[in-house]
Amino acid sequence: MRDQLEQLNQEALAEIATTDSVEGLENVRVAILGRKGKLTGLLRGLGQVPPNERPLMGELANRVKESVTEAITARQQNLKEQALRASLLAETVDITLPGRKRSQGGIHPVTRAMGEITTILMGMGFEPASGPEVESDWFNFEALNIPADHPAREMHDTFYLPDFPGGGRRLLRTHTSPVQIRTMTNRKPPLRVIAGGKVFRCDSDLTHTPMFHQMEGFMVDRDVHFGHLKGLLETFLIRFFERSLPVRFRPSFFPFTEPSAEVDMGCLFCEGTGCRVCKGSGWLEVAGCGMIHPAVLHNVGIDREIYSGFAFGMGVDRFAMLKYGIDDLRNMFDNDVRFLTSQAVAGV
Ligand code: DAH
Repeated sequence: MRDQLEQLNQEALAEIATTDSVEGLENVRVAILGRKGKLTGLLRGLGQVPPNERPLMGELANRVKESVTEAITARQQNLKEQALRASLLAETVDITLPGRKRSQGGIHPVTRAMGEITTILMGMGFEPASGPEVESDWFNFEALNIPADHPAREMHDTFYLPDFPGGGRRLLRTHTSPVQIRTMTNRKPPLRVIAGGKVFRCDSDLTHTPMFHQMEGFMVDRDVHFGHLKGLLETFLIRFFERSLPVRFRPSFFPFTEPSAEVDMGCLFCEGTGCRVCKGSGWLEVAGCGMIHPAVLHNVGIDREIYSGFAFGMGVDRFAMLKYGIDDLRNMFDNDVRFLTSQAVAGV
């Protein structure tokens, strides 16, 4: 019996060593150690062994069982490692390959400038308002003290649309100033309001596009004077361009303000010595402004004896170009992805 047990052990170990699947190993285990297995079969003959040898045979059988079990476990482990190694080899990841790029959108420079302007002015107590891009003659011109035959209308190169159903000219607003009229008509002073948006003029060349952006601002209250306007615009320009700048107010004319002024700031590019951007003057024209004309206050039903106000309007596209160093206005609206990508600022 001893020999048989030894032999069984040898055969089992040999078979385990050549089995190369987990299921195969399980079959070997059942064939040897299972209830109908070879070892169990051998032990059934234990009765024929002389009694004094039986404990020894029992011990030997146990050792065979242990040795076979251990060999199977070791072989299983071995097979699993082999399988893992094989799959690692088969499914290698080439970490030197370039990653898949996820292109990220950015904020358009005009939107960015509009946002920055709005943030600064809101910080100074102005609240945003808006008005329609399709306007009537009254809001865009008449109420702003620009009557039909006024020469100022020629400067506006208006896009006209078919008249309103009840009569009255319908047009694309040529500036954001009509939002002044709409707001003042509906609300009572004190008012501190800004309104940014698209405006349209029938004009297209190197420095003009038929659609562009303006930011309007105005304030109406008791005792508002030109000093408030000056202080506001100077502070605004310094905050927007993030540096100290000379600012000057040049007398000008707008039908809806009196007095009117054009605002210039020292050229950002040549520090006032004269360059291509400022056409040698050392100054950049950045806004129009003035004290709201009494006729305008009258048109919206605000008592001009009690209230006064100032207004200003600026070109947002130009502000964006100056701040972000863009030299061709048409870039802004061509939607060339190469330009937009070069301007993209993450997270703004
Ligand atoms: N609306 C003017 C334009 O488009 C700009 C402007 C000038 C607006 C003076 C104002 C202002 O509010 O006071 O040319």
